[in-house]
Amino acid sequence: MAAAARVTLADVYRAHERIMPYIHKTPVFTNATFDKLIGRNAFFKAENLQKTGSFKARGALNAVMSLRERNANAAGVVTHSTGNHGQALAWAAQTVGLKCAVIVPRDTPQVKKDAITSYGAELVLCEPTPQSRQETCQRVAEEQGLEFVPPFDHHDVIAGQGTIGMELLKQAPDLDAILVPVSGGGMASGIAIAAKAMKPDIKIYLVEAEGKMCEKSLRAGERLWPNPPRFLNTIADGIRMQHLGHLTFPILVDLAEKDVFSISDADMIKGMKFAFERMKLVIEAASGAAVVAAMSDKLAAMDKDMKNIGVILCGGNVDIDKLPWY
Ligand SMILES: Cc1ncc(COP(=O)(O)O)c(C=O)c1O
Repeated sequence: MAAAARVTLADVYRAHERIMPYIHKTPVFTNATFDKLIGRNAFFKAENLQKTGSFKARGALNAVMSLRERNANAAGVVTHSTGNHGQALAWAAQTVGLKCAVIVPRDTPQVKKDAITSYGAELVLCEPTPQSRQETCQRVAEEQGLEFVPPFDHHDVIAGQGTIGMELLKQAPDLDAILVPVSGGGMASGIAIAAKAMKPDIKIYLVEAEGKMCEKSLRAGERLWPNPPRFLNTIADGIRMQHLGHLTFPILVDLAEKDVFSISDADMIKGMKFAFERMKLVIEAASGAAVVAAMSDKLAAMDKDMKNIGVILCGGNVDIDKLPWY
């Protein structure tokens, strides 16, 4: 991959100016019961209420708008994703009037295919293998002259996700730390760039699905995961990538804490249930991971001076007929 200049706070500000008219400035919720439970103050950034139901709308829209600025004749965009990024890119392209194609494996549930087409994207079916996804994406990009927008390893996507951190610190300026669910690391690196530039002492903690083993690679400063990349076996479909990205990894080595919160499926469910029952918020398992990380013994054992904790509720796209506790 060609080396790209690292995203800066200025890129995040520019992204915010671009996307602000189209996205929600999501609310930050507090909960007295939760605060009593953890002995600190938690500030929940509700990206589950974002357009398309996840923070992904920010990065996707910034990438599409920035492409349009660079090339007024751009034909459109393409990606391969069955999840939140696919929906978000379809929505972003529709928002600015560009074409979008999304490659999905044949066996993708109809409900997900419908979500993507409901935002006006063309659905292109491929075989259910990573290789078929990539080859089909490349073919469609070439045939239709579309630009590939990957889910995390992309300058404009990272800058777009960084707007969460910038917004959150304006809404809750006294934060000491932020807990961020991580898959490829686009959201965490964007938030880290913005938050650390605005408040250098703030700590950024990654929250991963069990089995990702980020901590080892972060401590070594080297991507130690086995190849080829695989998906983790977890209920949290938003955070299934085992590897961090090539652009995001060095950013997180520099800016994130080396202590990582590793969360089991059973614990993610506890986090989801707390948000459903006590906060009346519909959140998906990746968000549940951040909630439960804030309730964990690991956080309890950390510095008591860390009083104010940001918790990113990254998405709310759950299939209500298949909630993971049934
Ligand atoms: C709900 C949700 N949370 C977290 C993530 C992780 O984002 P990233 O790949 O930028 O680390 C994703 C990615 O798809 C997601 O959909």
